[in-house]
Amino acid sequence: MRPVLIRGLTAATAATLVTGLGIFAATSASAAAGCRVDYTANSWSTGFTGAVTVTNLGDPISGGWRVTWSFAGNQQITQGWSATISQSGQNVTATNPSWSTSIGTNASVNFGFNANYSGTNANPASFSLNGTTCTGTVPTSPPTTPPTTPPTTPPTTPPTTPTNPGNKVDNPYANARGYVNPEWKAKAEAEPGGSRVSNNPTAVWLDRIAAIEGTDNSSSNGSMGVRDHLDAALAQNAGYIQFVIYNLPGRDCAALASNGELGPNDLPRYKAEYIDPIAAIQADPKYASLRIINIVEIDSLPNLVTNTSGQAGGTAMCDTMKANGGYVQGIGYALNKLGALPNTYNYVDAAHHGWIGWDSNFGPTADIMLQAAQASGSVNNVQGFITNTANYSALREPFVQPTTTVNGQSVRQSKWIDWNQYTDELTFAQAFRQKLVSIGFNSNIGMLIDTSRNGWGGSQRPTAASTSTDVNTFVDQSRIDRRIHAGNWCNQSGAGLGERPTAAPASGIDAYVWVKPPGESDGSSSLIPNDEGKGFDRMCDPTYTGNARNGNSMSGALPNAPISGAWFSAQFRELMANAYPPLS
Ligand code: BGC
Repeated sequence: MRPVLIRGLTAATAATLVTGLGIFAATSASAAAGCRVDYTANSWSTGFTGAVTVTNLGDPISGGWRVTWSFAGNQQITQGWSATISQSGQNVTATNPSWSTSIGTNASVNFGFNANYSGTNANPASFSLNGTTCTGTVPTSPPTTPPTTPPTTPPTTPPTTPTNPGNKVDNPYANARGYVNPEWKAKAEAEPGGSRVSNNPTAVWLDRIAAIEGTDNSSSNGSMGVRDHLDAALAQNAGYIQFVIYNLPGRDCAALASNGELGPNDLPRYKAEYIDPIAAIQADPKYASLRIINIVEIDSLPNLVTNTSGQAGGTAMCDTMKANGGYVQGIGYALNKLGALPNTYNYVDAAHHGWIGWDSNFGPTADIMLQAAQASGSVNNVQGFITNTANYSALREPFVQPTTTVNGQSVRQSKWIDWNQYTDELTFAQAFRQKLVSIGFNSNIGMLIDTSRNGWGGSQRPTAASTSTDVNTFVDQSRIDRRIHAGNWCNQSGAGLGERPTAAPASGIDAYVWVKPPGESDGSSSLIPNDEGKGFDRMCDPTYTGNARNGNSMSGALPNAPISGAWFSAQFRELMANAYPPLS
């Protein structure tokens, strides 16, 4: 059996500032070569994250690419991604990764890096692609006769605004401030010490049709609708806003706490009454300046892989949703409609390592993601994927990696890891990204990791590897994730806030995000009647002894929880107390 169902961000970067945004464009000596470089530096006092987009304006390039520049000051790159970056003095060379050796005409590649600096972080003055200086245009053949009159207006290079304002950017989180949901902020600030975290962006969950207009009388979530949030985002001068698209027919087929309002055969209603109206509002030109990020359908596609007939965790509802195509077609429709705008970004939910980290689940889950993207008409409708949404898996397990051995035995044979290929979310998300690219997704897709509740700080957090020679004891004493079982997902006791929302924190990762708003319950610990379709799942009952999906372990849930989505003050306080990085 596999642990499985599931659900389930930072002071250090709180002061990031955009200090650099430049576009480098110009002309090469050869008629067939030309390039443009967009360079941004997201700086704080001693470091910055650089993002580089190179567009090939000349003949197609194959067989590899090389981007070079010189820093003006003492900038020193410490880490790079999506390119191999080397630095000698002020001179930097970024060469293609093995999976991206060509750049078609007018196509772009992106890469990024972290760097240190002191003093002024000036942008590099010029860039070259394969030896050609990037000026932004390709020269036509030289005129046969020199012009006799000077041009009436001087050429405007470099341009001061992006040349393609209508196109999607590679990473919508880069150099952009996130929208802070005022309703979540108010709840967080009503708690003692809550103002330490209440300015973080969290996602807005559209968990029922009524949430589109706003649900004044709902016990979970707030009363603001989609337009209210978009208007508030404009008023905040936010760069991006995050919505969770979460209302599939037969929703949450392997659990009960987040069952939804639509029955298994309600795909037509999902399209007409849910996706279409959301897409129509997002398409209002008034919101064109916002990067609108849609997180698409939590927990759904992986359930079709792991929780259908023949598996220990199989349920009749997951069989039905697999057979009737409601999830794949619903997500395909959502991706198509919501992906059609130049300023919308789709990220599809991809579970977490403790669910699909085994080889038997990993490839098949990637395949079903591709099916859903193809059902949307094109993989171009998918900008990336999110892992660990509303879950508790640790970002990094410094003392327990799959290669760690104890007394000659692999930690993978411990009860906790149970032969999983991954032990943490960062390595899992990076590997899953590569898998997705290898089967046909675009090479510039980026991953998000929900770090809202995976901090696991406080006194229980291990600070060193255990010295035990027993593999189970070693793993249990060394792991950051303190759950009873990695398949536990409801209101986990001992959890803390994780990394605060951060753009481009690591290779292949577009952002650490807070998609599950901390303090909102995962499900009630006993049956609470409600009119939102929410059931009672015993995984939220602290006295429950478990099922096949969590190795028949105790649920690890906090007591006295309200229904999913409703404010759970005791949990929020514990999340703050156990935050990692800690709150000051
Ligand atoms: C609930 C939603 C809620 C979301 C965010 C989900 O588990 O089903 O109603 O909006 O969590 O808290």
